[in-house]
Amino acid sequence: MKRIGVLTSGGDSPGMNPAIRAVVRRAIYEGMEVVGIKRGFKGLIEGDFIEMDARSVSGIVNRGGTILLSSRSEKFKTLEGQKIAVENMKKWGIEGLVVIGGDGSYRGAYALYKNWGIPTVGVPGTIDNDLWGTDLTIGFDTAVNIALEAIDRIRDTATSHERLFIIEVMGRTSGFIALYAGVAGGAEDILIPETPTHLNEIIKRLEEGKKKGKVSSILVVAEGEEEGGALDIARKIRDKVGYETRVLILGHLQRGGSPTAIDRILATRLGSGAVEILKEGKGGVAVGWVNNALKITPLPETWEKKKPIDADLCELALIMSI
Ligand code: F6P
Repeated sequence: MKRIGVLTSGGDSPGMNPAIRAVVRRAIYEGMEVVGIKRGFKGLIEGDFIEMDARSVSGIVNRGGTILLSSRSEKFKTLEGQKIAVENMKKWGIEGLVVIGGDGSYRGAYALYKNWGIPTVGVPGTIDNDLWGTDLTIGFDTAVNIALEAIDRIRDTATSHERLFIIEVMGRTSGFIALYAGVAGGAEDILIPETPTHLNEIIKRLEEGKKKGKVSSILVVAEGEEEGGALDIARKIRDKVGYETRVLILGHLQRGGSPTAIDRILATRLGSGAVEILKEGKGGVAVGWVNNALKITPLPETWEKKKPIDADLCELALIMSI
């Protein structure tokens, strides 16, 4: 393979830039040329392409967001949209493609491989950590640390006012960010979609905590929690026991900022690994990091299998909040 493309797609995540950098530099090191595609699959359809060289990715290893920009494309889900994209790739001589993104982006990458025979490799770029085939996704560690900083700060004011705070974090339908940030921040309870939530038990624990001398409490809620988001939980608790609560929804704050060392290193390993896979002429797969080694997974497996939440951490969360 002489010439490959790279794009970022879906919700951006801190670490996408070091991943782009790794793809570009590894490819050049291997004697290949690299074309950057702007705005994900939308740019693939619109032919919004740029030639990239080693210097075009200088000074981005520490930057959040993505220099290639990102979007979600409805048109690319149609065969008509894909056909235009494939024609553009042919015009530019692009023989293989690295797709950095989450599960929606992986589906796009697989469509190119399955319907049009183009070798594609997925690199897991999402703060949600919800992809099968990798222990961690790029951006997860940074998002957890941002959420953790918020929890630590809220703890100060919550303690001063002896209040109950409910903090909502992102994660789409998964609770990884909530669980990790909640355990690290010493949350009294963590509400995630992977485990059943019993509000009466949570309230009981909060009341017991008060009796045992706890002056403040923090609940961390994943946005996909089945009982609802932080505002719903606050309302339900108020309706049940009349507690006055304060709510913080962290939202897109979790997607910005400089990637942590863990995310930069992961991005460097996986971006580089994706190029090696394309070099071997393989496609239709995702590259991941499992048990401290590169792991290749067929793309459909990454959304057909559900990554299990850490049961031990769920248990520890409860033990630690006695
Ligand atoms: O997948 C990343 C993510 O940040 C999710 O955690 C969240 O549910 C979603 O994207 C938000 O999407 P948007 O940026 O389109 O509001």
